[in-house]
Amino acid sequence: MNASAPLSRRRALKTLFCSSAFLSLNLGSRSILGAAEGGALDLLMIGDFGTTGDAQKRVAAAMNAFCQGQGIKPESLLLLGDNFYSAAKDGFSTESIRWKNTFEDIYPTADFPGPCWAVLGNHDYHDNPGGEKVQLEYAKKPGTRWKMPAKWYRFDLGPASLPLATVIALDSNLPKVSGGKDKIFGKPRGSLSESEAAQQHEWLVAELQSKRAPFTIVMAHHPLYSNGSHGDTKALIAQWGPLFQEHRVHAYLCGHDHDLQHLELEGLFTSFVLSGGGGASTRKLDSDRKMPYGDDVHGFTHLRVAREELVFTHLDASAKPLHRFIKRTDGSFEIA
Ligand SMILES: [Fe+2]
Repeated sequence: MNASAPLSRRRALKTLFCSSAFLSLNLGSRSILGAAEGGALDLLMIGDFGTTGDAQKRVAAAMNAFCQGQGIKPESLLLLGDNFYSAAKDGFSTESIRWKNTFEDIYPTADFPGPCWAVLGNHDYHDNPGGEKVQLEYAKKPGTRWKMPAKWYRFDLGPASLPLATVIALDSNLPKVSGGKDKIFGKPRGSLSESEAAQQHEWLVAELQSKRAPFTIVMAHHPLYSNGSHGDTKALIAQWGPLFQEHRVHAYLCGHDHDLQHLELEGLFTSFVLSGGGGASTRKLDSDRKMPYGDDVHGFTHLRVAREELVFTHLDASAKPLHRFIKRTDGSFEIA
């Protein structure tokens, strides 16, 4: 279902410049993407991918086909959580076969040689008890592309002397969001502890107050706003929303809902990008408010980071482009 058409009753767009011709643009032409020749970086992102199933493999193949077609090697993969679904049969450890079957073989080094920056999703806590610790531990293996230096961390993209973008990776599994008890068995569910959530919040405020690159991107698993089956996450809107606005966060990247979305909300500086089509079964979008884009399909998202602009493109599991927009340093955006 393509959900880009109806105007939201609850929220209106800030400004929307539409071009019905975007699907016919040649993604391979770097010139249409502005300053791409000036040291721009290409990244791909996926969320909700860790099933080891056919859909995950199809999306991975599309990611590779896209890169080959564009003649690019992505600088990084951004892995937006729910990296491993279901309990590992051999027990989930750094030696589990799941690392080979769900990550290493599906996104091979030959195709994706760069760092794979990962955040934790609810399934990463819930499906394998202690699974979050295993994912942190795997990141310590010498030479691994799996990057999860902590549950929350920061890295900058581009030259160290003049970075293009600051990326702040967060753990959205706050106790209010992901804790409580399992609905079926009544057992306590894993999440950040209250103490960890407080430490993360303090760290986030300090990072947002520190020197940053021209663009700031925040990534985590749960959406603040979503037109998908899970809907908005009120606890995150309350805790992170005012910070993103005050400190001019350009984009918030997430998954959790199994679809692709781009949301713009009246008066908010941040663009909300949801890329949850990495492999788990898609779910129908709530059709009440769909602005400017949402589609319940498998797929991935390409991000080109340039000095003057971020260019986001959602693509499906055939590498067909579905929606693209440009975000500028002043917070304005344009559907391209
Ligand atoms: Fe999730």
